[in-house]
Amino acid sequence: MRSLRMAPPLPLIFLLMIVGAFGTEWSVKYNQQEICALKGSTVFINGTYTHPEHLTVRAAFWYIDPVKGVKLTDLSKDPDYSGRVEYFTDEQKHFSLKLSDVMKKDEHQYCFRIIAKVDKQKWTGKPGVRLRVTELHVETPEEVTEGETADLTCKTTCSLTDPTFIWYKNGRPLTTKTIKNNQLHLQTVSSEDAGSYSCAVRGYQHLSSTAHNLRVRYPPKNISVSISPSGGIVEGSSLTLTCSSDANPPVKNYTWFKEGGTSPVGSGQNCSIINITADHTGLYHCEAQNEHGAQNGTVMVTVKSQSLYAVWIAVGGNADPNAKDDTYTALQPTARSSDNVYHTLAAVQSSSPDDTYTALDPQSSSPEYHTLAIDSPETNDDVKPYCLSE
Ligand SMILES: *[C@@H]1O[C@H](CO)[C@@H](O)[C@H](O)[C@H]1NC(C)=O
Ligand SMILES: *[C@@H]1O[C@H](CO)[C@@H](O)[C@H](O)[C@H]1NC(C)=O
Repeated sequence: MRSLRMAPPLPLIFLLMIVGAFGTEWSVKYNQQEICALKGSTVFINGTYTHPEHLTVRAAFWYIDPVKGVKLTDLSKDPDYSGRVEYFTDEQKHFSLKLSDVMKKDEHQYCFRIIAKVDKQKWTGKPGVRLRVTELHVETPEEVTEGETADLTCKTTCSLTDPTFIWYKNGRPLTTKTIKNNQLHLQTVSSEDAGSYSCAVRGYQHLSSTAHNLRVRYPPKNISVSISPSGGIVEGSSLTLTCSSDANPPVKNYTWFKEGGTSPVGSGQNCSIINITADHTGLYHCEAQNEHGAQNGTVMVTVKSQSLYAVWIAVGGNADPNAKDDTYTALQPTARSSDNVYHTLAAVQSSSPDDTYTALDPQSSSPEYHTLAIDSPETNDDVKPYCLSE
């Protein structure tokens, strides 16, 4: 009543006109002006109302986007909302609209309207509550390089009320990483961080975002070198060394070295040696390289001499080599020094297991391999082990 002395605006005059006999006025108060809801969730639009005390409420309903001169449609009768709306009011004059399975097209202004029994007096809470609907969307850098930091963001198009964000990697909740607000912080990215990321809000885990892939670039790792055929390697046969390594982007160059040599003996993922001789015995290194770095793998190639077996049979299984120097020379036309060749072969026969190659960690080659490498005739300038790339 205190406003009477000032020139009141028109709506206020209207309000004063309908003030009830006991002083209570019509009013509709919403708890929020704007609500941000996750697509697919259930949302409540709540508030309280008052009405002149001598009146009783006959009906209350909700409608959207009031337009002057257009008849108001009760939301519960709107086919777009069919089966998705429920109205609640209670003795304390609380009211709520429960809207389930919220959709993007539900983004409207929602107004509550009360109609009294007497004289069809009515009241509408305008401008109502603005409903916004969002999905969750993961924003990541397309690609990060190992060692860098990366921030993944769970984006919404409106501000949810006090959301707690949850992150998933390949479908499993992430608990070990730093999550701050809607961001997942990867401090030092490793190749293991590559994967498919999605996010959700606690309480709405079933409404998670679509997954987004994070690619990590890294130098070659987990290198391995294999030999085929895998049995004993016999002079005159051929063999293929294959280098494989995990890298992103994939390995660009493979380079092959033979221990003791400084220049490469081949390139490409495979290194094929045809017509093997004992001179091919030794350690072979494969270097795998992409633009982020390189890694080495090593394999031992041990060649068994068929001729040596033949000699042993010929001399009745006598393995004492000192007596038969000339024979070895005759059977080893490629060798410059029969002694040298002999030592290599003897060492192979006596110390190597049946499968005569072993993939080696470069740091862990055992002394017996060093012995072999030293004894082998590769230091001879005329020996050029070669390797055909496929
Ligand atoms: C809104 O009202 C409903 C009951 O009508 C209640 O379950 C819900 O918790 C209320 N929500 C808020 C945000 O007050
Ligand atoms: C390398 O191998 C290890 C052990 O097998 C494995 O845990 C790791 O994921 C591999 N790394 C890559 C980048 O594949």
